[in-house]
Amino acid sequence: MSAVKKIAVLTSGGDSQGMNAAVRAVVRSGLYYGLEVFGVQRGYQGLLNNDIRPMDLRSVGDIIQRGGTVLQSARCKEFVTPEGQQKGADILRENGIDGLVVIGGDGSYQGANKLSKLGIKTMCLPGTIDNDISFTDFTIGFDTAVSIVVDAVNKLRDTMSSHERSSIVEVMGRHCGDIALYAGLASGAETILVPEVPFTIDEVANRMRQNFEHGKRHSIVIVAEGVGRGDDIAKGISERVDVDARVTVLGHIQRGGCPTHNDRVLGSRLGDFAVRKLIEGESGKACGIIKNELVLTDIDTVVNTKKGFNKELYDLASRLSQ
Ligand code: ADP
Ligand code: F6P
Ligand code: MG
Repeated sequence: MSAVKKIAVLTSGGDSQGMNAAVRAVVRSGLYYGLEVFGVQRGYQGLLNNDIRPMDLRSVGDIIQRGGTVLQSARCKEFVTPEGQQKGADILRENGIDGLVVIGGDGSYQGANKLSKLGIKTMCLPGTIDNDISFTDFTIGFDTAVSIVVDAVNKLRDTMSSHERSSIVEVMGRHCGDIALYAGLASGAETILVPEVPFTIDEVANRMRQNFEHGKRHSIVIVAEGVGRGDDIAKGISERVDVDARVTVLGHIQRGGCPTHNDRVLGSRLGDFAVRKLIEGESGKACGIIKNELVLTDIDTVVNTKKGFNKELYDLASRLSQ
């Protein structure tokens, strides 16, 4: 006996590559297990507007390879209020929907948690490029965002090398340095600046000077947006070292394009897992992957725990980039 009969899925907050794979998995697994499945357009805003439609097998066809989200996403102030949340729960109930899968970041998780406390069975999936959700090793979209940064740095390295310049590359990640860390390690960046590790511009400049003394003719500095603007870092470096520094802000390019196979597989596994756990009667839970095992954690715990930073990887990148 399934604990839910009609479920809905929505995507919320900043979109990420692989959200479509997760939506597809929720819809197709739900239908496979005999549930009715609905899609809510434009996140919590769409929920409050009752913008809800039935999904069938074909409504998620031809989307696994697409970035963005076919359900679209939105930020909704009204839903942060208790009245908005009550209205959302009422609308779901009026539609006969007893289970909801929310794909989004930490803010979206908070919203889902409120709905679960109002009696809607909810599951959260980590949909954000930032990799800033605790109790999961990876979020859906992170792998693709890192690949985009690595590809960009490869290109920058060509021209920086020709002109013996330094490239300061500002990447996304809000308060989390993971995109900078993984992309920096994978692209051999000389310096990685993240909010989790304190630094001074003097240290950055000294390291660059030493690198030049050891024969390097160009360098790459990856700056997570959480530490400040690439322009300011470049200015600080140029004031201290005789270097021709150029700034590149990768911006929303990191959030688009074809998801990697890792993000498609992760979205598919987590989407299916969420449906199976709803059927088993779980609610108020976040789905994650730890050491390649699917795990469930209370949303309360996830939103109240800051994700740990992988200092080991950071130190490795530092040792290898001398
Ligand atoms: P993300 O999910 O990527 O972190 P946001 O932080 O913008 O993105 O959150 C997405 C949406 O989740 C918000 O627009 C809002 O509707 C809802 N939300 C955010 N914080 C809360 C909260 N504390 N309680 C209820 N809903 C929230
Ligand atoms: O949380 C995802 C993210 O892309 C962050 O990396 C970035 O700081 C933010 O969203 C950008 O938000 P917006 O889409 O509102 O410009
Ligand atoms: Mg947020």
